[in-house]
Amino acid sequence: MSVMSEKTTISLIKADVGSLPGHVTVPEELKKVATTNLQKMKKNKTILDFRVLNAGDDLELIMTHKKGVDNDKIHGLAWDTFEKAAKKAKEMGLYGAGQDLLADAFSGNVRGMGPGVAEMEITERPAEPVIAFMMDKTEPGAFNLPIFRMFADPFNTAGLVIDPSLHNGFVFEIWDIMENKRVFMNSPEEMYDILALIGGKSRFVIKRVFPKKGGKLPPDEPVAVISTEKLYKIAGEYVGKDDPVAIVRGQSGLPAVGEVLEPFAFPHLVSGWMRGSHNGPIMPVPFRYSQCTRFDGPPRVIAAGFQLKNGVLAGPADVFDDPAWDYTRQKSAEIAEYMRRHGPFEPHRLPSEDMEYTTLPKVFKKLERRFEKI
Ligand code: F6R
Ligand code: MG
Ligand code: MG
Repeated sequence: MSVMSEKTTISLIKADVGSLPGHVTVPEELKKVATTNLQKMKKNKTILDFRVLNAGDDLELIMTHKKGVDNDKIHGLAWDTFEKAAKKAKEMGLYGAGQDLLADAFSGNVRGMGPGVAEMEITERPAEPVIAFMMDKTEPGAFNLPIFRMFADPFNTAGLVIDPSLHNGFVFEIWDIMENKRVFMNSPEEMYDILALIGGKSRFVIKRVFPKKGGKLPPDEPVAVISTEKLYKIAGEYVGKDDPVAIVRGQSGLPAVGEVLEPFAFPHLVSGWMRGSHNGPIMPVPFRYSQCTRFDGPPRVIAAGFQLKNGVLAGPADVFDDPAWDYTRQKSAEIAEYMRRHGPFEPHRLPSEDMEYTTLPKVFKKLERRFEKI
């Protein structure tokens, strides 16, 4: 018999298994299929709690359990849920039905099979605030700027300056997703080196953030985790953007919820948007605006705020559903308009290196034989 962990695991697993119209949003019917399946698994105690949301055309499963990260039962449950939703999507004639289920059959872990995954196993504090961020029409590197600002920028996070329990800073785990390597770096000591890497957001991505040793929190349990799956690397061709997700803990020795959300007041430019081929501003929106309509965008982020207790979720609070974000949304709409005026020109269109992973090389291929030497 397996020993139940004292710790709680939060697993946020997502996939695009069909949407309407085109790549805009996930209809209620699909969320209902997912909810029914997860409800069954909550009843039989495979999971402790769950929520089903959508970020644009992505179906998002937030699950809590005692099985740790990379658990085959939990990943199998997610895969099974996506398959059932994909079946419904096919029946309904939804667009891209089953799109992100890149493998024919589940083989123990959804990593490398299409879905995106952010998971953390933690020792719950007496009160545990958790924010789940879910983006659509962009790539994992879109989280570099906001996560850096939450945990390392004193102009964003007042606690880094004025709260002794944050003053020592944090450890960043950064992945080179081209070379499949990682490095752990300390902030603030190595802040410039961290930025030297993560400013190149299509290659270097923040995977996790940890507390430093000697503080209130266990240094081996993440306080933030981001999904880093790259679809084109799995499929070997363009099949849509990766649409990353992240889980961030807050308060009591960590950035306050307001400091966790604050970076999103700046609608920074991310790559993705139409055909995964354009730079555009990320727009923080409430759940009801989680649908990408203008030029299949602009890229969006929703944030679901919870309190976690003994693996049970209270919430979500739809934390971008506040007029305090209207200015950002307006700014983002203005930037979207400005970028759109460039049409097919860079830097609205992605730089050539990044276009390698889109459908553009197929167009170049056709032109190849027309070129003559000069
Ligand atoms: C972006 C995205 C959409 C599609 C676009 C073309 O991540 O999913 O912008 O790339 O709508 O889609 P297809 O090729 O399916 O017609
Ligand atoms: Mg889609
Ligand atoms: Mg999507």
